Amino acid sequence: MAKQSRLDRLHEMRRQAAEPGGPKRTADQHAKGKLLARERLEILLDEGSFEEIDRFVTHRSTDFGLADQRPLGDGVVTGSGRIEGRPVYVFSQDFTVFGGSLAEGHARKICKIMDLALKTGCPVIGLNASGGARIQEGVVSLGGYADIFLRNTLCSGVIPQISVVLGPCAGGAVYSPAITDFVLMTRGTSYMFVTGPNVVKTVTHEEIDFEGLGGAQVHAEKSGVAHMVGENDADTLLLTRRLFGFLPQNNLDDPPRRPLNDPSDRADIELDSLIPTDPHKPYDIKDVITRVVDNGEFLESQPDHAGNIVVGFARLAGRPVGIVANQPAVLAGVLDIASSAKGARFVRTCDCFNIPLVVFEDVPGFLPGVAQEHGGIIKHGAKLLYAFCEATVPKVTVITRKAYGGAYDVMNSKHVRGDYNVAWPTAEIAVMGPKGAAEIIFRQQISAAKDPAAEVERLADDYREKFANPYIAAQYGYLDDVIEPHETRPRLIHALELLQTKKDSNPPKKHGNIPL
Ligand code: HXC
Repeated sequence: MAKQSRLDRLHEMRRQAAEPGGPKRTADQHAKGKLLARERLEILLDEGSFEEIDRFVTHRSTDFGLADQRPLGDGVVTGSGRIEGRPVYVFSQDFTVFGGSLAEGHARKICKIMDLALKTGCPVIGLNASGGARIQEGVVSLGGYADIFLRNTLCSGVIPQISVVLGPCAGGAVYSPAITDFVLMTRGTSYMFVTGPNVVKTVTHEEIDFEGLGGAQVHAEKSGVAHMVGENDADTLLLTRRLFGFLPQNNLDDPPRRPLNDPSDRADIELDSLIPTDPHKPYDIKDVITRVVDNGEFLESQPDHAGNIVVGFARLAGRPVGIVANQPAVLAGVLDIASSAKGARFVRTCDCFNIPLVVFEDVPGFLPGVAQEHGGIIKHGAKLLYAFCEATVPKVTVITRKAYGGAYDVMNSKHVRGDYNVAWPTAEIAVMGPKGAAEIIFRQQISAAKDPAAEVERLADDYREKFANPYIAAQYGYLDDVIEPHETRPRLIHALELLQTKKDSNPPKKHGNIPL
């Protein structure tokens, strides 16, 4: 074959690979407000940085008419690229080819980039839009998924894995994202469910549409499966780039530091009057977070799920930190099943990727109630406790107000290896709230009193006076200091600077046994 015709053939094959689903399916995708697999990678990655591999892979199946349909690429675009100059491996499923469904060739392509990512210590970002196992190819589709799940698990805690869901994802297509570190979805066009509305109707007789069963809001709010939600494809992909900026390349690397453009010694005087004088009055802990961190920039994870705990990323002196904060503005900041699980997962994510933890604590305790007890608050609360206990990254805590009961222990107390624990003068640290405490320890005295209600108030005031302050904890060295709220930023930055060289480890083991 002449040289030119060989080049022509290559160009023709590249042209076919660029639009394997054909113009109609491309138009359908755009009409639904969605981008194509390659267009998404262009937004995700630094301009011109994408290097494709396996563009000419096709499936080998002949059943159910597949012999006549061998689209190049087999429904997924794979390769590497850069985000803010840092290398990353990527795959982007093409819904225009067999609905992005996964079979042998498609799976092998994803496994290849995952293997490369693990060997080179590079993160993986998967752009998911897939009808799950390709039905025509049978067991090789199932095998292909299992090959990916295994790699997701082996990569877990070694390289960051981010899943971006940008279309319908059904069956096997939801389990790979579920194993990864973060799931991002797009409002109105992305869905995740193990079985779709039709199967649900057949089995349980429940009638529900895609959105109600597994839309972005459902997973952001109810199930907690989605960590972040974008308004459209481009928004979600830009959010992914932002998230990536907080994560290291791998578990042996530090997260990327940015040049500091917010003074380390910046004192925020407003913080001194932020806590209401009435201990029952709420305030928004995010006001505290944004006043303390660099430029007030806070990337919240799972903002609509279990709002009584706030988790997310920020920077202090240019270095990424993971923030875990009780939120007095939601359910008084109480720890319950959902908030414990949410907090635990985030703490472990930060710990495996060397991201220091900064805790803001204002917690009245664990939520009492039959539903909580029967739902397993014991084992779910234990997750958060376990996560803080095992974490070896630098861990600092600021108690802004309440630190009651078991929640005092759980929220990165000195006893569970908190490295720098301080409190504001408004802190109240005790086994329980003053009223509850007085009612238990002075029960007889109260029932004998002429006016029991007034007696409870008087005794509660005594108890508050004695215990509801930070000084007893400071006396025992459980707090390193009591600080003025406006000093919080400089004090945390100083502590974290010293802790940069922290080395701590856990006893050698195969792996711990976190209460799941
Ligand atoms: C082959 C598939 C497919 C699949 C979709 N398509 N899913 N082809 N295998 N699994 C094809 C459709 O036939 C259609 O082809 C095109 O993709 C677009 O699909 P639509 O249904 O038109 O799109 P939409 O209405 O947006 O619905 C998307 C969907 C739905 C929700 C994903 O297609 C669906 O429910 N698919 C089946 C889901 C499923 O049950 N998968 C298997 C799960 S079992 P044409 O040619 O018409 O354009 C599984 C096992 C792994 O995954 C378990 C591991 C734990």
